Amino acid sequence: MKPMNAGLLGIGTVGGGTFTVLARNEQEITRRAGRPIRIVKVAERNLALAKEITKGTVEVTDDAFSVVADPEIDIIVELIGGTTVAKDLVLQAIANGKHVVTANKALLAHHGTEIFAAAQKQGVMVAFEAAVAGGIPIIKAVREGLAANRIEWIAGIINGTTNFILSEMRDKGLSFAAALKEAQTLGYAEADPTFDIEGVDAAHKITILSALAFGTAMQFDKTYIEGISRLEAVDIKYAEQLGYRIKLLGITRRVPEGIELRVHPTLIPAKRLIANVEGAMNAVLVEGDAVGATLYYGKGAGAEPTASAVIADLVDVTRMHTADPENRVPHLAFQPNHIADIPALPMSEVQTSYYLRLRVEDQPGVLADITRILADEHISIDAMIQKEPGEGETQADLILLTHLTREKHIDAAIAKIEKLKVVAGKVTKLRMEELGK
Ligand code: HSE
Repeated sequence: MKPMNAGLLGIGTVGGGTFTVLARNEQEITRRAGRPIRIVKVAERNLALAKEITKGTVEVTDDAFSVVADPEIDIIVELIGGTTVAKDLVLQAIANGKHVVTANKALLAHHGTEIFAAAQKQGVMVAFEAAVAGGIPIIKAVREGLAANRIEWIAGIINGTTNFILSEMRDKGLSFAAALKEAQTLGYAEADPTFDIEGVDAAHKITILSALAFGTAMQFDKTYIEGISRLEAVDIKYAEQLGYRIKLLGITRRVPEGIELRVHPTLIPAKRLIANVEGAMNAVLVEGDAVGATLYYGKGAGAEPTASAVIADLVDVTRMHTADPENRVPHLAFQPNHIADIPALPMSEVQTSYYLRLRVEDQPGVLADITRILADEHISIDAMIQKEPGEGETQADLILLTHLTREKHIDAAIAKIEKLKVVAGKVTKLRMEELGK
């Protein structure tokens, strides 16, 4: 059968991995796809790099738009990243009737709704398995494997850089700054790590998973985002003493009022499997009403793990290429005319449990004042520890765990607690999730 011709935009880490794995496993991939899949053109700013990787086997150019315009090309593989040029290229490819495979989470989280609508109109596919959790086939699992279920919630460790940093902080008692430095030295964190450590990368990914799980448009602008850069080693230590680990989670949950969509450091019981995902690994926990909890684990980044997802998409697109567009798997799991308008809730309305750390004077009546404020906001205490003041100190750390409450109630209580004369400085607030039934 006629081969499928792909044009590769960007041959950096993931593009290079895609080129290598496609060549190495050519026969297996052809047997699966039913016809050969060939990269026939590569666009790359660094022509020397592209020539070194492709070794003269394919045409190389620095003009990505010429690849997107090439009538011989059936599929565009977009691995450039970013939301400007990449968006123009993807929309141009779609307008030219080409299928698109992309690993670009930022592009889909910001512009996915527009891109999928354009693809729908043109009858082409946009596949994006590599955009979330690298090599873990989580898109396919949520969109197809769990299609029988009403999905209740998803909670994922979907950023390897931050999981590596948190693992180092816990293992070695390092500060955030020291663990970040180590991550940079080892190549886990980029020179400018902002997107990873501030939770933006995880927010792109949970936005995509949320849209797939609940059949909504992308709601990145409604996603609550809090990274790990302000997390203190002392909270990781106290959490551990209480039987919890702290992970940066992307969480999306269906609730009666809408959808929760949030990224933040989260205490989870140490006994949960997902709490034991260490280093740069990713894991996604999905709760469906029929199947219960399912957990997906693997490498969320890297050349060949991500190439694994890119090539799986190339195979899928090749298999479905001749199917009528209306008989293909819908981009966002639900048929386009059944995309629902379910609002993402403001954080103030989100319900969860909390970890609070306060520095208090060690004197009579302090606990009574604090618990009175919490009771006035209808917040119930689940557990509490008070550390003895250090030698010569008059203040002690007090750690409280609460039962479920709304964020607006805990914030109101914290504002009152911080006004007490016996409380020094700010209250540290972290969210807690049981992630079980
Ligand atoms: N920078 C991401 C991470 C990988 O650290 O997991 C690509 O999304």
